[in-house]
Amino acid sequence: MTAVVIDGNAIAQEIRAEATQAAADLQARSGVAPGLAVVLVGDDPASAVYVRNKERACREAGIRAETLNLPGDTSQNEIIAAVRRLNDDPAVHGILVQLPLPSHVDERSVILSLDPDKDVDGLHPVNVGRLVQGEPLFVPCTPWGIQEMLVRSGHSPEGKHVVVCGRSDIVGKPVAMLLVQKQTGANATLTMCHTGTADLAAVTRTADILVVAIGRAEAVTADMVSEGAVVIDVGINRVDDATRQRGYRLVGDVDYRGVSEKAAAITPVPGGVGPMTVAMLLKNTLRAAERAIAGAGV
Ligand code: GUN
Repeated sequence: MTAVVIDGNAIAQEIRAEATQAAADLQARSGVAPGLAVVLVGDDPASAVYVRNKERACREAGIRAETLNLPGDTSQNEIIAAVRRLNDDPAVHGILVQLPLPSHVDERSVILSLDPDKDVDGLHPVNVGRLVQGEPLFVPCTPWGIQEMLVRSGHSPEGKHVVVCGRSDIVGKPVAMLLVQKQTGANATLTMCHTGTADLAAVTRTADILVVAIGRAEAVTADMVSEGAVVIDVGINRVDDATRQRGYRLVGDVDYRGVSEKAAAITPVPGGVGPMTVAMLLKNTLRAAERAIAGAGV
């Protein structure tokens, strides 16, 4: 079998067009342009690229986006003070703190300082709890993007066995909590794998849908995937490549070439999950703005 490629760029473009329309409608109705603030600490090159992509996508959709770029040695208290100022700024509807933060900063403390009503990444414990209970306010962008690309490509997880590899707070745990809900576009049977899983390949081979978010280049190989599975590759890894001008290329957590010989469908890297994350951020920012304008409770 040769896998169909699930085109994240094309699906994300569809969602971005929806967001552009919704932003224009909101502005026409209320006179208010939705606004996102991004907090970027330090000069990690990958984070800088992600943030630029998010800013550009916002602007193209008619969402104001401003980035607060703080030096890498900014103290935790200063970062929290900056977040609190954004919490209090009525022109800012959504706040995103780009992760990872420098090692001297406790990420959890910074996330706790976010107003849950502006937490468009869905990482504040209030939003995590709401997701677990099936009443999400903001679904984290990458998990929501994964769900949307599955549904919109005709691979709804309903009734399927979804195996999630990786238990991060930003992808593994929330995607599992999202897809297990008794809801349309979810309702999957879930298995989670992680570094403590005794025989990873034995579990991944049982997946109808395999979501891989482990952060290791090309770690999932063809022998770990069953014929006809749908494979979602969340990884973005730089591997040295002297044939490229920039000296590296991007690969996922899945051995794309080998696995696409067996899978029914697969997401590429780049051009798979990455653009979906950006598209869902627009949707969450619009939701934050709509709630703020309506006086919350929406
Ligand atoms: N770093 C990598 N992905 C993400 C994301 O989705 N949100 C934030 N805040 N940081 C990230």
